[in-house]
Amino acid sequence: MPAHPLLPRPSEMSADTRPGLVLTPSTRINADHAAHGTEAWLRAELGAATGLPLLHGKDQNAQLRLSVDTAAGLGPEGYRLAIHEGEALIVGHDSAGVFYGAQTLRQLLPAAAYRRAPLGSAAWVLPSVRITDRPRFGWRGCMLDVARHFMPKHDILRFIDLLAMHKLNVLHLHLTDDQGWRVEIKRYPRLTEAGAWRRESQVGAAQPPVFDGRPHGGFYTQDDLREIVAYAAARHITVVPEIDVPGHSQAAIAAYPELGEGDPVEVGREWGIIETVLNVSDTTLEFYRNVFDEVLEVFPSRYICVGGDECPKKQWRTSETAQRRIREEGLADEDELQSWFIRQFDGYLTERGRRLLGWDEILQGGLAPGATVVSWRGTEGGIAAARAGHDVVMCPTATSYLDYRQSAADEEPIPVGTVLSLADVYAADPVPPELAKKGAERILGAQVNVWTEHMDTPRTVDFMVFPRLAAFAEVVWSSRQRDYGDFLPRLADHLARLDAAGVEYRPLDGPRPWQLRPGIPGRS
Ligand code: ACM
Repeated sequence: MPAHPLLPRPSEMSADTRPGLVLTPSTRINADHAAHGTEAWLRAELGAATGLPLLHGKDQNAQLRLSVDTAAGLGPEGYRLAIHEGEALIVGHDSAGVFYGAQTLRQLLPAAAYRRAPLGSAAWVLPSVRITDRPRFGWRGCMLDVARHFMPKHDILRFIDLLAMHKLNVLHLHLTDDQGWRVEIKRYPRLTEAGAWRRESQVGAAQPPVFDGRPHGGFYTQDDLREIVAYAAARHITVVPEIDVPGHSQAAIAAYPELGEGDPVEVGREWGIIETVLNVSDTTLEFYRNVFDEVLEVFPSRYICVGGDECPKKQWRTSETAQRRIREEGLADEDELQSWFIRQFDGYLTERGRRLLGWDEILQGGLAPGATVVSWRGTEGGIAAARAGHDVVMCPTATSYLDYRQSAADEEPIPVGTVLSLADVYAADPVPPELAKKGAERILGAQVNVWTEHMDTPRTVDFMVFPRLAAFAEVVWSSRQRDYGDFLPRLADHLARLDAAGVEYRPLDGPRPWQLRPGIPGRS
């Protein structure tokens, strides 16, 4: 029986040696109303790669037929793909399911199906198969930090295509941090005029720090972000925005010093945890409500991330405003003050029909009632939140941080954190054993995090993200027993797809010479 190297591995697949479907100039596509988006996507993507028109055909004239059937028992985002005797049928439980069926169909073609123009030689043969498939988790995410290094819009759109190719459905965009503010806020133009660029950037993690002496910056207009959101939505990806408060806010404070606790600051140039934090005055809260008002207009996502991570309490300990707030609100300490601050946004978001998402530090001092927790400092925060009845997204550093080094070899460029190999990503499970009996239903899924302090170009992002993202895709999509020995040969075929798509992944045997950063120290 032929085995097709699909990645992530589908739930059920049976292949046979009957004729499948050969795509030719006369191949037609038909889709019911809910599947129209995927028809257009197939025509655009496969049309470009194959040079075939893949025109719309009336139902019986179309060889490739797409439809939605909620009664087919396929489950959310699930699909059935049947290719036999000159026909390919995709039935999705919903329009997302149809899209994933089409992604699978593309993988059944030669890798050249991932190019943007035809080479002129391929035969576009789809094999005879029947596949029934659905994802294990509803949150299959990737967080991209566009604050530390700006990623041009064009590259974000490309990144979205790559997430969709791996059947991921959440792009968590980390839009603000100490070193840059990347989202246009019309009411506060200095956030981008001043906050979107810095004089220079730290290079590597040497102490004392070394700087490159080169300005860096960039931001997205609200129209850019609307375009990104719509492009992602057409690929069944939700863009979850993050505006990080009350720590990681130095770029905002550089733009509007009245938000801070101390002397004026510049946009951060150095990596790490910075002591500059927001003050807790009514005017700062009002400022951020106004910011979120604009953010909610651009991002329809149900989940809105307010960050909440790594907020040093030093400035609050000696701040008149902070200490007064602690007294007036009857709070025990600065941890409870941080919790109080986050709770203000929980109420704000809940009133507007959204849900607050925050890093697991939001557990300190008490979790806001509507909060969903992103568990990154290990799994403990996620376990505690799930046991307290909150939803959780898992991304513990040890298995989910794609800025961490890919091997123990000295040559890995700017090695930070612990070793996180492809095999390590593949072996991880989003549901910690502690929740296996009770609480697992609170785990919405998992995400990998791409922090870009040391990724200064999209090429470097490619190197750090791929192929580990392919392993992660199988972790969050496939319900079947994972088997690294089965994954690796499929990955070999998948790397050919990434090559065709122009992805500069890290080769399995180590970086290419131009992917090295000799002499630039990292940190463990
Ligand atoms: C984080 O890595 N600071 C969430």
